[in-house]
Amino acid sequence: MRNATITGWGKCMPPAVLSNADIANFLDTDDEWITSRTGIRERRISHVSLETMGTVAAQRALACAGLDAERLDLIVFGTCSFDQQVPNTASGVQKRIGAVNAGAMDVNTACTSYLYGLTTAAAMISQGVVNNALVIGGELISPLMDWTDRGVAVLFGDGCAATVLQATDKDEGLRASKLGCYGEVREILLVHGMGQRYANRGWVNGDTQWVFEGQEIFKRAVVGMSQACQTVLDDCGMGPDDVDLVVPHQANLRIIEAVVKRAGVSMDRCFVNVHRYGNMSAATVPVALVEALEEGRIKPHANLLLTGFGGGLSWAAQMLRWGERVTPLGESDATLPPCERSGLEMVQGYLAAKHGSRE
Ligand code: COA
Repeated sequence: MRNATITGWGKCMPPAVLSNADIANFLDTDDEWITSRTGIRERRISHVSLETMGTVAAQRALACAGLDAERLDLIVFGTCSFDQQVPNTASGVQKRIGAVNAGAMDVNTACTSYLYGLTTAAAMISQGVVNNALVIGGELISPLMDWTDRGVAVLFGDGCAATVLQATDKDEGLRASKLGCYGEVREILLVHGMGQRYANRGWVNGDTQWVFEGQEIFKRAVVGMSQACQTVLDDCGMGPDDVDLVVPHQANLRIIEAVVKRAGVSMDRCFVNVHRYGNMSAATVPVALVEALEEGRIKPHANLLLTGFGGGLSWAAQMLRWGERVTPLGESDATLPPCERSGLEMVQGYLAAKHGSRE
């Protein structure tokens, strides 16, 4: 049996922090409301492009796996906030890391893009199409955020992480996947101002308006993720007690708690970092995976349950059996350029640039 296992991991978090108190400078909100409803205390605002974050995360993941970029056969970049539609972001990373033998594609299922990308790459490895793949989940949401809307502006942040996936004959790696989508309610999470249909309607690119039916998304997210988790557990003949760690999409602490409860797993076997970064869409699961390893929460041969939901409304879960190694083989010196501005200054810049563009 040819399996696909994670051998390298690396994150790239932009350094500028935007706290709940910072947001209260320009929106009618406060730390108490945000923390009690979502669990989020702060998020990051990137001063660099998505491609740059992806490149640094990729170099760190490759060093961790001890793999040269030329040995990659495939790069999958999961994102919905690509810098450019053509050429795609994966090809930008391919060029910058020198992965000259790799195919490169973007996958967009919003917040589940990394999970969809992971399943895609793992299936290609199992089929023998590729041997070594790099799966990235990254998002640069801050320039696309409607910073005048307190209903969504408090929820999201920027970030990126990458994983190296390699073929193995060992009994480890991705064991089951379930992908799904509630297309019939796709309009409950919708961003006006991103894409072709807005081009001739007087919209300035990035001056967005978000349709975000929070409570309906909440309900659908819990049902979709729970269904996906049950499916992969059943497929593996496993029960809740067999799960060593849940690594869920980090959109909202209350959603995470509801999903974990339904799965029959206690919260001490769930990794949470939503308080640090908010919802980074496609980046949440890979960043959580990297931090769980950094914090020693993933032991050799652990059974990990990954799950997420996002625009579409897409949802997914994977059962992943970790290998022996939980520490990096090497470290990369790749790093971001210094950031001269605070998170608040960057967001105020976006607010000023967009002000009045829709009139
Ligand atoms: N600060 C202060 N008050 C706020 C606010 C903010 N940032 N955002 C909304 N409010 C107000 C609303 O205006 C409303 O006021 P009203 O009662 O006077 O009309 C009140 O708070 C309640 O709003 P509501 O939207 O009903 O809150 P909620 O309890 O549903 O929580 C979410 C809102 C978004 C936190 C919650 O619905 C949620 O987490 N949904 C899931 C969304 C998600 O995670 N999506 C990720 C997509 S991948």
